Amino acid sequence: MTSKISVIGAGNVGAEAARMVLQKGLADVALVDVVKGLPQGKALDLMQAGPIVGYNTKIVGSNDFSAVKDSQIIIVTAGLARNPGMSRDDLLQKNASITKSVCDNIKKYAPDSIVITVTNPLDTMAYLTYKTLGFPANRVLGMAPLLDLARMAAFITMELNCPVTEVKAMVLGTHGDLMVPVPSQTTVSNKLISQLLPKEKIDAIVERTRTGGAEIVALLKTGSAYYAPAASAAYMAEAILKDTKEVIPSSVLAEGQYGLSDLYVGLPAKLGKNGVEEIVEINLTAEEKAALAKSAEAIKASNSKLR
Ligand code: LAC
Repeated sequence: MTSKISVIGAGNVGAEAARMVLQKGLADVALVDVVKGLPQGKALDLMQAGPIVGYNTKIVGSNDFSAVKDSQIIIVTAGLARNPGMSRDDLLQKNASITKSVCDNIKKYAPDSIVITVTNPLDTMAYLTYKTLGFPANRVLGMAPLLDLARMAAFITMELNCPVTEVKAMVLGTHGDLMVPVPSQTTVSNKLISQLLPKEKIDAIVERTRTGGAEIVALLKTGSAYYAPAASAAYMAEAILKDTKEVIPSSVLAEGQYGLSDLYVGLPAKLGKNGVEEIVEINLTAEEKAALAKSAEAIKASNSKLR
């Protein structure tokens, strides 16, 4: 049986995630959006790319949420991006109400699915999704630490001019200003990054990783990044569908791991057919541990604004 992945939100991230899923031959896709014509138009366009690119996977676009029925995985990208003049708090309230209504529909039409949240503010929306759905925590996770890790890896590749496949980076914590890039767990060809680059360069890479999303927003002027965010969501879906058990930092429910609890936060998670199969505890330096605790405080402060 062909697998099915639904993507909620047919904006740039959603449509690109759908394209990646199709192109990997991973699953058929339902692309759902409230804007009339948008998911249908993008779905048709993607169907028509199939004969050229050579994928047999199919996509339908719909304004009707019942299209998500029988999905193994649902990638939720629905929500607003921050516009000029809009505070983070405004964004939080608006996207919280969108997220809640999306969750009500997921509960109704795909109660056995695994849900990957992409909407910002990421860790808070993942927590809200978990609370609203009432699914077990292994079936709700958030994308973003993988995106942040990819950004760190890209900056290292740009600095060292090495193959991207040799770089293993690690980023934990929140997808925000208090993100925690983890140089002590970052290697190139199995050599620690500290053996390859001076401290100032590593510090600069860490800082650029933290502000990686904003750097792209400033360049694009309207809208935010979507190729790497979509690639990250599709990669997580692939790990789950193919049951790879790869450890992929994801926003997951902490239940005592790393001394944290009752929040969604970026931690190394083993992904497989059950979604989050294990939160893996890795060694962190005292400084990294303290940064992770601060990151968690910031997420809890954001969560407390949920009404
Ligand atoms: C980013 C925003 C979209 O990091 O979260 O690109």
